[in-house]
Amino acid sequence: MSDKSSNQMWGGRFAAGPDAIMEAINASIGFDKRMASQDIAGSRAHAAMLAAQGIVTPSDAEAMREGLLTVLSEIETGEFAFSTALEDIHMNVEARLKEVIGEPAGRLHTGRSRNDQVATDFRLWVRDQLDAAVSGLEALMRALLAQAEAGADWVMPGFTHLQTAQPVTWGHHMMAYVEMFARDLSRVRDARERMNESPLGAAALAGTSFPIDREMTAEALGFDRPMANSLDAVSDRDFALEFLSVASISAMHLSRFAEELVIWSSAQFRFVTLSDRFSTGSSIMPQKKNPDAAELIRAKVGRIFGANVALMMVMKGLPLAYSKDMQEDKEQVFDAADNWMLALAAMEGMVKDMTGNRANLEAAASAGFSTATDLADWLVRTLGLPFRDAHHVTGSLVALAEQKGCDLPDLSLEDMQSVHAAITADVFDVLGVHNSVASRTSFGGTAPVRVREQIALWKEVLG
Ligand code: ARG
Repeated sequence: MSDKSSNQMWGGRFAAGPDAIMEAINASIGFDKRMASQDIAGSRAHAAMLAAQGIVTPSDAEAMREGLLTVLSEIETGEFAFSTALEDIHMNVEARLKEVIGEPAGRLHTGRSRNDQVATDFRLWVRDQLDAAVSGLEALMRALLAQAEAGADWVMPGFTHLQTAQPVTWGHHMMAYVEMFARDLSRVRDARERMNESPLGAAALAGTSFPIDREMTAEALGFDRPMANSLDAVSDRDFALEFLSVASISAMHLSRFAEELVIWSSAQFRFVTLSDRFSTGSSIMPQKKNPDAAELIRAKVGRIFGANVALMMVMKGLPLAYSKDMQEDKEQVFDAADNWMLALAAMEGMVKDMTGNRANLEAAASAGFSTATDLADWLVRTLGLPFRDAHHVTGSLVALAEQKGCDLPDLSLEDMQSVHAAITADVFDVLGVHNSVASRTSFGGTAPVRVREQIALWKEVLG
């Protein structure tokens, strides 16, 4: 036997235990304890399979099953004493199992390794998060749909370059985000389907000579099939990277909307009023109501992008198969997952509670010559002008209005005719913002009739 202070799990060839600094850099228990329930689920599946294959006796497997349940309940109730000397969740669980059931615990690790164990635990953990993301995204989409429905025909300015472009409907703007989050949802589902294969039984890297049944453990853990190559199974973390990529894209969508809410809730815009429940005050300026939740979503997104890049960097230089570098995968994913879920929930809460200020939106929609394109289109349609000429005439009319300090609908017919003699009073019909949005009935356009069709479709999808 080696020195007593060497590691009880792998210390056979070691005469001395690790230096304290070695222990500190090596241990992952501080964070991988979050995978305790996945680790125990993996061990239970493995133990049952070992018995079914005659590799351990039924009574040993039963002892393992009961012991693992005891350990799980100790962890869940907070009684479990995690040990840094035992490095990680896998060895913490196994060591405690030994204390609880004695000798049979030593047979649990037959035909497996921590390498396939950690790959399995982590896949299960990420899979749970993908499922949670589905709920979070769907809840947010429902909140956006409710806003869209309430203001399907409210007019507001549509922007390009953050300059007034053309009037759009509030419903259309909300539904734009429904489309974005729906694509995030579909990316989540794709990622889940691709990652749902079991690494368990790949053992350290080469498979095992024990007659294990990988189909059985895969099925017990809800995987679609065992992974086909043991080297790949223990050494890739692309499923975690795909999770982070999907999270990053979704976080980018959240951040853009957060930015809009920050702008829209300002005193200069007043497009929306955020609820007290999702705002904070200032300790010095009594009038302030700050959109902190939106700002924090915008900021937290940086951590999610960072996690994606960090794990890419960890992985890019690693030869097959497992390297300890991979232990650095988990904190990035845990942090990104926590913040993505929080951002989704905070956005859902803000959207549910916020009030669109219809009158302000409408007043802003009419300002800034937002119906200039409608005027140009009228010149094309009614007077038969080529679009380029119509564009030029309209530009002159905008300049005239600017000079007079008024908006396009406030110009008189004489003013209009001074620029182009053939203009008639009908032109005023298209200069109103409601007529403008109502006219944009092309598929995907902002007309309330089109927006309501999309709302109905999505309501059906989301149930
Ligand atoms: N804590 C390790 C990790 O997170 C578990 C796998 C350790 N494997 C090994 N060969 N040392 O990656």
